[in-house]
Amino acid sequence: MVWKPVQDMPDLTGRVALVTGGNKGIGLTTVEQLANHGAKVYMGARSEGKANEAIRQIQSANPSLDGKAITWIPLDLASPASVVAAAEKVSSAASRLDILINNAGVTAGPFAKTADGIDTNMGVNHIGHFILVDRLLPLLIKTASQANTDVRVVTVSSMAVSQAPATTRFDTPESLYNPSGLEDNAIMSMMKRYGISKVANTLFASELQRKMDSEGVPIISMSVHPGAVATDGGMGLFPVFVKPLLKLVMATTLQGATTQLFAATAVEVGKEKAKYGGKYLVPYGKIKYPGALAANEKLAGELWESTNGLVGKLLSKA
Ligand SMILES: NC(=O)c1ccc[n+]([C@@H]2O[C@H](COP(=O)([O-])OP(=O)(O)OC[C@H]3O[C@@H](n4cnc5c(N)ncnc54)[C@H](OP(=O)(O)O)[C@@H]3O)[C@@H](O)[C@H]2O)c1
Repeated sequence: MVWKPVQDMPDLTGRVALVTGGNKGIGLTTVEQLANHGAKVYMGARSEGKANEAIRQIQSANPSLDGKAITWIPLDLASPASVVAAAEKVSSAASRLDILINNAGVTAGPFAKTADGIDTNMGVNHIGHFILVDRLLPLLIKTASQANTDVRVVTVSSMAVSQAPATTRFDTPESLYNPSGLEDNAIMSMMKRYGISKVANTLFASELQRKMDSEGVPIISMSVHPGAVATDGGMGLFPVFVKPLLKLVMATTLQGATTQLFAATAVEVGKEKAKYGGKYLVPYGKIKYPGALAANEKLAGELWESTNGLVGKLLSKA
């Protein structure tokens, strides 16, 4: 039987969640479903106007929702300083954090760099989320240490992990600026840059689980592929004229949100921590081997060390 968020998600009353990129696409539906099931939800988004419009949209579709169920948190994942400020805001506004969904992402597109000179795929999808998790860990760990809690960190990856070159390495902080070395806008180059950032997402999730396990912290970390979903990001590389057709054949945002909501809330995940912890899930909530690169523990350790080093440098000049 397929797990369905509307029917199968447990009551989340009293729980607190943060969803990045919550203002549209899969993230918006994720926020809506968590709030509808009783969670207090922080919506991480870089634009106040877009966040307010998204909250208004959710509230008008769900008139019985408490007006304070969803709160905007300013968050630009391309800016380390903005990420630190967002984590501080959440940590001072909330006394607990049960669910963190690292959903935001730039999808395959023309080569662009963050203000720090990092390929935006790596800068936003991996490095921004690494800083966010690092800064929120004290609150997540504090929550996990309380009775009757079930803290989850879900990082949204992609089946595009298969597009990363087998030679991908993350052996120095500098290698993270643009691991593919490609700066052109051929489709294959765009896919490789995006795929590498998604390999980083999956490696990060599994390494986080190993770190939590080694410290005896009962937090579950997973990565997910949401499916091929009809969002701006999911249809980004297709010509405008095929988009109406794609909307008919691709998954809806509710279908797309299902696997991350399963990872973040399903009762069976909490009951089977050893089965799900550190794993890569695909629709709808199935564990899958992510491929040799995204399953490489040595590479995961290397990525963690290099990211730590790079983040230290970025924040010291911020
Ligand atoms: N759709 C698919 O088929 C598919 C398949 C595999 C994986 N995914 C993954 O699913 C996740 C959600 O994607 P989606 O399909 O819902 O795409 P989307 O509709 O394009 O949404 C992307 C979200 O990320 C946010 N974002 C982008 N750059 C950001 C930044 N610098 N700081 C903060 N937020 C930023 C966007 O905010 P703005 O509105 O401000 O741009 C938006 O809220 C992504 O991680 C994507 O890689 C999607």
